[in-house]
Amino acid sequence: MATRVRWLGHSALLVEGEGRNVLIDPFLTGNPKAAAKPGDVPADLILISHGHGDHVGDAVAIARRTGATVASNYEISLWLQQPLQGLAESKAQGLQHGGSFLFDGKIRVKLTLAFHGSALPDGSNGGNPCGFVLTFPDGTRIYDAADTALFGDMALIARLYEPTVAVLPIGDHFTMGPREAAYACKLLQPRYVIPMHFGTFPVLTGRPSQLKELLGAIGPEVVEMQAGQTLG
Ligand code: NI
Ligand code: MN
Repeated sequence: MATRVRWLGHSALLVEGEGRNVLIDPFLTGNPKAAAKPGDVPADLILISHGHGDHVGDAVAIARRTGATVASNYEISLWLQQPLQGLAESKAQGLQHGGSFLFDGKIRVKLTLAFHGSALPDGSNGGNPCGFVLTFPDGTRIYDAADTALFGDMALIARLYEPTVAVLPIGDHFTMGPREAAYACKLLQPRYVIPMHFGTFPVLTGRPSQLKELLGAIGPEVVEMQAGQTLG
Protein backbone atom coordinates (compact mmCIF):
# COMPACT_ATOMS: atom_id res chain seq x y z
CA MET A 1 0.00 0.00 0.00
CA ALA A 2 1.73 3.18 -1.17
CA THR A 3 -0.83 5.26 0.67
CA ARG A 4 -0.07 5.79 4.35
CA VAL A 5 -2.57 6.34 7.14
CA ARG A 6 -1.52 7.97 10.40
CA TRP A 7 -3.87 8.15 13.36
CA LEU A 8 -3.66 11.42 15.27
CA GLY A 9 -6.09 10.35 18.00
CA HIS A 10 -9.92 10.20 18.30
CA SER A 11 -11.17 10.55 14.68
CA ALA A 12 -8.24 12.57 13.33
CA LEU A 13 -6.43 10.85 10.46
CA LEU A 14 -3.63 11.99 8.20
CA VAL A 15 -3.65 10.10 4.90
CA GLU A 16 -0.64 10.59 2.66
CA GLY A 17 -0.73 9.47 -0.95
CA GLU A 18 0.48 10.84 -4.29
CA GLY A 19 2.54 13.32 -2.27
CA ARG A 20 -0.60 14.94 -0.92
CA ASN A 21 -1.65 15.12 2.72
CA VAL A 22 -5.32 14.57 3.41
CA LEU A 23 -6.28 15.49 6.96
CA ILE A 24 -9.62 14.18 8.23
CA ASP A 25 -11.52 15.56 11.26
CA PRO A 26 -8.51 17.33 12.82
CA PHE A 27 -9.58 17.62 16.47
CA LEU A 28 -6.21 18.21 18.19
CA THR A 29 -6.63 21.13 20.62
CA GLY A 30 -8.46 19.75 23.67
CA ASN A 31 -8.05 16.15 22.48
CA PRO A 32 -6.39 14.28 25.35
CA LYS A 33 -5.09 11.65 22.86
CA ALA A 34 -3.81 14.06 20.20
CA ALA A 35 -0.60 12.86 18.56
CA ALA A 36 0.19 16.12 16.72
CA LYS A 37 -0.02 19.84 17.28
CA PRO A 38 -2.26 21.93 15.03
CA GLY A 39 0.73 24.16 14.23
CA ASP A 40 2.79 21.22 12.91
CA VAL A 41 0.39 19.00 11.00
CA PRO A 42 0.64 19.17 7.18
CA ALA A 43 -2.47 19.44 5.00
CA ASP A 44 -3.26 19.92 1.32
CA LEU A 45 -6.87 18.83 1.77
CA ILE A 46 -8.92 18.82 4.98
CA LEU A 47 -12.13 16.79 5.23
CA ILE A 48 -14.80 17.54 7.85
CA SER A 49 -17.37 14.77 8.34
CA HIS A 50 -19.82 16.79 10.46
CA GLY A 51 -20.18 19.90 12.58
CA HIS A 52 -19.36 18.55 16.06
CA GLY A 53 -16.41 20.10 17.84
CA ASP A 54 -14.51 16.81 18.13
CA HIS A 55 -14.41 16.71 14.28
CA VAL A 56 -14.25 20.33 13.09
CA GLY A 57 -11.55 20.77 15.74
CA ASP A 58 -8.63 22.82 14.45
CA ALA A 59 -9.71 22.66 10.79
CA VAL A 60 -10.07 26.43 10.37
CA ALA A 61 -6.70 27.28 11.96
CA ILE A 62 -4.90 24.57 9.97
CA ALA A 63 -6.60 25.65 6.72
CA ARG A 64 -5.54 29.27 7.31
CA ARG A 65 -1.94 28.27 8.05
CA THR A 66 -1.52 25.76 5.20
CA GLY A 67 -3.84 27.17 2.55
CA ALA A 68 -5.45 23.72 2.31
CA THR A 69 -8.78 23.20 0.59
CA VAL A 70 -11.51 22.13 3.04
CA ALA A 71 -14.19 19.72 1.82
CA SER A 72 -17.39 19.11 3.74
CA ASN A 73 -21.11 19.14 3.22
CA TYR A 74 -22.51 22.34 1.69
CA GLU A 75 -23.83 23.81 4.96
CA ILE A 76 -20.46 23.51 6.69
CA SER A 77 -18.74 24.99 3.62
CA LEU A 78 -21.01 28.06 3.97
CA TRP A 79 -20.13 28.32 7.67
CA LEU A 80 -16.42 28.15 6.81
CA GLN A 81 -16.88 31.20 4.57
CA GLN A 82 -18.53 33.31 7.27
CA PRO A 83 -16.34 36.20 8.54
CA LEU A 84 -15.40 34.51 11.84
CA GLN A 85 -14.01 31.49 9.99
CA GLY A 86 -12.93 33.51 6.97
CA LEU A 87 -12.15 30.84 4.38
CA ALA A 88 -12.17 31.91 0.74
CA GLU A 89 -14.94 30.45 -1.38
CA SER A 90 -12.31 28.83 -3.58
CA LYS A 91 -10.95 26.95 -0.52
CA ALA A 92 -14.30 25.73 0.83
CA GLN A 93 -15.47 22.80 -1.25
CA GLY A 94 -19.13 22.10 -0.46
CA LEU A 95 -20.55 18.75 -1.54
CA GLN A 96 -23.45 16.52 -0.62
CA HIS A 97 -24.02 12.81 -0.09
CA GLY A 98 -23.49 10.61 -3.09
CA GLY A 99 -21.40 13.28 -4.81
CA SER A 100 -17.65 13.40 -5.29
CA PHE A 101 -14.87 15.63 -6.50
CA LEU A 102 -11.36 15.00 -7.74
CA PHE A 103 -8.76 16.77 -5.62
CA ASP A 104 -5.70 18.04 -7.50
CA GLY A 105 -6.47 15.69 -10.38
CA LYS A 106 -5.43 12.73 -8.19
CA ILE A 107 -7.60 11.85 -5.22
CA ARG A 108 -11.32 11.22 -5.54
CA VAL A 109 -13.39 12.13 -2.50
CA LYS A 110 -16.91 10.72 -2.28
CA LEU A 111 -19.39 11.66 0.45
CA THR A 112 -21.34 8.75 1.91
CA LEU A 113 -24.26 8.56 4.32
CA ALA A 114 -23.80 8.65 8.08
CA PHE A 115 -26.43 8.49 10.82
CA HIS A 116 -25.55 11.07 13.44
CA GLY A 117 -25.95 14.82 14.20
CA SER A 118 -24.02 17.77 12.77
CA ALA A 119 -24.66 20.98 14.77
CA LEU A 120 -21.66 23.28 14.58
CA PRO A 121 -19.86 24.47 17.76
CA ASP A 122 -21.62 27.89 17.64
CA GLY A 123 -25.02 26.24 17.16
CA SER A 124 -25.19 26.87 13.40
CA ASN A 125 -26.88 24.37 11.13
CA GLY A 126 -24.19 21.89 10.09
CA GLY A 127 -26.34 20.07 7.53
CA ASN A 128 -26.20 16.28 7.55
CA PRO A 129 -23.23 14.23 8.69
CA CYS A 130 -21.25 12.17 6.19
CA GLY A 131 -18.53 9.61 5.78
CA PHE A 132 -15.92 9.55 3.01
CA VAL A 133 -14.55 7.17 0.42
CA LEU A 134 -11.10 8.23 -0.75
CA THR A 135 -9.75 6.65 -3.92
CA PHE A 136 -6.04 6.98 -4.70
CA PRO A 137 -4.37 6.32 -8.07
CA ASP A 138 -2.43 3.38 -6.57
CA GLY A 139 -5.77 1.61 -6.06
CA THR A 140 -6.02 2.18 -2.32
CA ARG A 141 -9.57 2.93 -1.26
CA ILE A 142 -10.28 4.15 2.23
CA TYR A 143 -13.80 4.27 3.66
CA ASP A 144 -13.94 6.48 6.73
CA ALA A 145 -17.41 5.98 8.21
CA ALA A 146 -16.87 8.90 10.65
CA ASP A 147 -19.48 9.12 13.44
CA THR A 148 -22.39 6.87 12.58
CA ALA A 149 -24.68 4.06 13.57
CA LEU A 150 -24.47 0.82 11.64
CA PHE A 151 -26.59 0.90 8.48
CA GLY A 152 -27.37 -1.76 5.92
CA ASP A 153 -26.32 0.33 2.93
CA MET A 154 -22.71 -0.16 3.94
CA ALA A 155 -23.23 -3.21 1.70
CA LEU A 156 -23.63 -0.82 -1.25
CA ILE A 157 -20.44 1.00 -0.28
CA ALA A 158 -18.70 -2.38 -0.33
CA ARG A 159 -20.07 -3.31 -3.76
CA LEU A 160 -19.42 0.04 -5.38
CA TYR A 161 -16.03 0.97 -3.90
CA GLU A 162 -14.51 -2.25 -2.45
CA PRO A 163 -12.65 -0.45 0.33
CA THR A 164 -9.13 -1.61 1.16
CA VAL A 165 -9.31 0.04 4.56
CA ALA A 166 -12.41 0.71 6.66
CA VAL A 167 -12.14 3.28 9.42
CA LEU A 168 -14.96 2.61 11.88
CA PRO A 169 -16.08 4.14 15.17
CA ILE A 170 -16.29 1.60 17.99
CA GLY A 171 -16.65 3.75 21.12
CA ASP A 172 -20.42 3.29 21.60
CA HIS A 173 -22.59 6.03 23.22
CA PHE A 174 -22.44 8.52 20.28
CA THR A 175 -21.73 5.97 17.53
CA MET A 176 -21.82 2.26 16.97
CA GLY A 177 -19.94 0.03 19.37
CA PRO A 178 -17.79 -3.05 18.73
CA ARG A 179 -20.72 -5.39 18.01
CA GLU A 180 -22.12 -3.16 15.25
CA ALA A 181 -18.61 -2.45 13.95
CA ALA A 182 -18.02 -6.20 13.62
CA TYR A 183 -21.20 -6.46 11.57
CA ALA A 184 -20.08 -3.45 9.48
CA CYS A 185 -16.91 -5.42 8.69
CA LYS A 186 -19.05 -8.30 7.40
CA LEU A 187 -20.85 -5.88 5.09
CA LEU A 188 -17.76 -3.94 3.99
CA GLN A 189 -15.22 -6.80 3.71
CA PRO A 190 -12.16 -4.54 3.85
CA ARG A 191 -8.61 -5.88 4.08
CA TYR A 192 -7.92 -3.75 7.15
CA VAL A 193 -10.16 -2.14 9.72
CA ILE A 194 -8.96 0.76 11.83
CA PRO A 195 -11.01 1.31 14.99
CA MET A 196 -11.66 4.92 15.89
CA HIS A 197 -13.58 7.20 18.27
CA PHE A 198 -12.95 5.16 21.44
CA GLY A 199 -11.24 5.85 24.75
CA THR A 200 -10.83 9.59 24.23
CA PHE A 201 -13.50 10.29 26.83
CA PRO A 202 -14.83 7.90 29.54
CA VAL A 203 -18.22 7.35 27.82
CA LEU A 204 -16.51 5.93 24.69
CA THR A 205 -16.17 2.47 26.20
CA GLY A 206 -15.74 0.19 23.15
CA ARG A 207 -12.27 -1.28 22.68
CA PRO A 208 -10.37 -2.80 19.72
CA SER A 209 -9.90 -6.03 21.71
CA GLN A 210 -13.69 -6.48 21.73
CA LEU A 211 -13.87 -5.96 17.97
CA LYS A 212 -11.04 -8.47 17.45
CA GLU A 213 -12.81 -11.05 19.59
CA LEU A 214 -16.09 -10.59 17.73
CA LEU A 215 -14.41 -10.88 14.32
CA GLY A 216 -12.33 -13.93 15.26
CA ALA A 217 -9.96 -15.44 12.72
CA ILE A 218 -12.06 -14.84 9.62
CA GLY A 219 -12.57 -11.07 9.85
CA PRO A 220 -10.40 -8.36 8.32
CA GLU A 221 -7.17 -7.51 10.09
CA VAL A 222 -7.92 -5.16 12.98
CA VAL A 223 -5.17 -2.56 12.96
CA GLU A 224 -5.06 -1.48 16.57
CA MET A 225 -3.13 1.73 16.16
CA GLN A 226 -1.57 3.85 18.85
CA ALA A 227 -2.15 7.54 18.36
CA GLY A 228 0.72 8.75 16.17
CA GLN A 229 1.24 5.36 14.51
CA THR A 230 1.25 4.90 10.73
CA LEU A 231 -0.20 2.08 8.58
CA GLY A 232 1.22 1.48 5.12
NI1 NI B 1 -20.15 13.62 16.37
MN1 MN C 1 -17.54 12.51 17.43
